[in-house]
Amino acid sequence: MPYTVPKLTDFSTGALDSAARELLSALEQESAAVSSENDWKVYRDRWMARKNGILTQLNDLWLKAAPGPNKRDVGQRVNELRETVTTKVEQRRTMAEAFDLARKMNVVTGLDAGSTATPRGTLRSPGESKFGPKAWVGDVRKLLLESEGLDITLPGIRRPIGAEHPVIKTMNEIVGVFRNLGYSVEEGPEIETDYYNFEALNFPPDHPARDTQDTLFIAGQESKPLRDRLLLRTHTSPVQIRTMQKMRPPVRIVIPGRVHRNDPPDASHSPMFHQVEGLAVDTNITFGDLKGTLDHAMKALFGASVKTHFRPSFFPFTEPSAEMFVSCFICGGEGRLRDGQGCRTCKLTGWIEILGCGMVDPNVYGFVDYDPSKVSGFAFGMGADRIALLKYGVDDIQLFFNGDVRFLEQFI
Ligand code: PHE
Repeated sequence: MPYTVPKLTDFSTGALDSAARELLSALEQESAAVSSENDWKVYRDRWMARKNGILTQLNDLWLKAAPGPNKRDVGQRVNELRETVTTKVEQRRTMAEAFDLARKMNVVTGLDAGSTATPRGTLRSPGESKFGPKAWVGDVRKLLLESEGLDITLPGIRRPIGAEHPVIKTMNEIVGVFRNLGYSVEEGPEIETDYYNFEALNFPPDHPARDTQDTLFIAGQESKPLRDRLLLRTHTSPVQIRTMQKMRPPVRIVIPGRVHRNDPPDASHSPMFHQVEGLAVDTNITFGDLKGTLDHAMKALFGASVKTHFRPSFFPFTEPSAEMFVSCFICGGEGRLRDGQGCRTCKLTGWIEILGCGMVDPNVYGFVDYDPSKVSGFAFGMGADRIALLKYGVDDIQLFFNGDVRFLEQFI
């Protein structure tokens, strides 16, 4: 039999006590039966509807009916009950919502109140929850959030601010030194034609100098004339040609860029690496200008105390050509460290090879319509990755390119 509010005739404290007990036990029982939001609405209306809800009936059947001397007591009692009922009904709402969520997620079975539920998912029914119904509600909420891929209790996702890659940073530094000397920056395509990469740089077809730069050709181009065939540029020197084609002397440029060679990767080789090229063409440029410019640049990059040193070399597009060395900035050019151990950085020689350079070969001017009897110039090209390795004391070039954040983070 559902609870009905009794008409009171006895208004003594004892009678009020027992009537209140009866009401509260009905409140408790009915509350336990609420297992959905719909149930809860029915429950709320039954107890709290203005018109004929149980609380309203208490007013009519208990308070209004009470004789004068009992009014105070009864009024107090009714107020207490109103508070308890209101709180209980409100609390049960959370529970009802949790039931609906749990049902939606299909994590618990036997959600009908009173039934001894068999847990099917991760959750037990509220009655079986180890930490009581309140904890159960929390668990249902958490599961729901997780199932929707959102857990607002997790710490936020930190989005670290990126930083310049050590190789790019090094390239920018090198470029910066030459910018300060009035050089401007030029760039060119990484996929280049044989003409720009080799022919116009005075590497004739079949010349053995081509073998020094083992090239990655793009496949399936046999039908094209050699000069038009595409390859991955092996150096940044083709941009010398491209620039001189579009610019009349005086030219002062630096060319940072990525280059490719068919070199198997090891600690000091990578099939992809970076160069910074330089070119200065004007009237009366001499080898002395080349030496002075590069000596200054090395001091700016490695410190004022480094010395430079040139040895004869060969490149088809410069004549004469040289390799430039800087005195080892690890052992101070001694070849030995303070403790007498041999210096590994310079392989005990006291010198580190940094770049190739030379005076622009007059044949090259023929390809760009400059008059070799009027202008002269120098060019140089350096490996930025190698310089970055030296600057940062890194012993394996692969570390720069395999994308391990733990390595890269050290340079932030
Ligand atoms: N391009 C040459 C290389 O990659 C370097 C170089 C550049 C040499 C300019 C002389 C002048 O090895």
